[in-house]
Amino acid sequence: MSAATTIALVIGSLREESINRKFAEYIVSQLPESVTVNEVNIADLPLYNQDYDDTTIESYERVRQQIKDADADAVLMVTPEHNRTMPAALKNVIDIGSRPYGSSVWTDKKVAVVTASPGTYGGRSSGLDVRKSMQMLSAKMMISPEVYLSHATESLDEEGVSSERTQKFLQKFASELAKFAENSGV
Ligand SMILES: Cc1cc2nc3c(=O)[nH]c(=O)nc-3n(C[C@H](O)[C@H](O)[C@H](O)COP(=O)(O)O)c2cc1C
Repeated sequence: MSAATTIALVIGSLREESINRKFAEYIVSQLPESVTVNEVNIADLPLYNQDYDDTTIESYERVRQQIKDADADAVLMVTPEHNRTMPAALKNVIDIGSRPYGSSVWTDKKVAVVTASPGTYGGRSSGLDVRKSMQMLSAKMMISPEVYLSHATESLDEEGVSSERTQKFLQKFASELAKFAENSGV
């Protein structure tokens, strides 16, 4: 593992007590020390409008820069599902990064997605929709393990991820994620 591996973390929930943030924190804690994680704040991004393509919006420039090649070997998205798809806030940063036309930050970008929900399906539709958008944007998706955490609140306590089974699964994911981010041949 090189000393310079960097992952940009995007959390699809804006909620203060977000369960997805708790899973993200656990995954980050399981990454090798050689991996640096920088969170991309998406809470302050104005809703994307193509009219803005010709102007400079500071928050847009910030997130585009954080995701670009030089600043992130890979992007990890940890997100809930809202009404059977990804939350608007996550779609917004995907759209912002995809434009202006010809300057997308997603082209060839390595991207991994994790979803978590208290429900039965684990936010799978949200994760699959992220994969669909990323495929269209020519990103390089981490194929496996697929992580859709169902009944996710049952794996948590006040300290974070408490279920041993979920911990083991996320440790495996973190190990694969580190390799994925590091491997320049992916
Ligand atoms: C607007 C909205 C829509 C939701 N739709 C879904 C859904 O389609 N599938 C699902 O599993 N959970 C759905 N939920 C429940 C979320 O999974 C739950 O609120 C979860 O805690 C959100 O993740 P967070 O805690 O990281 O914000 C929805 C919640 C909201 C607020």
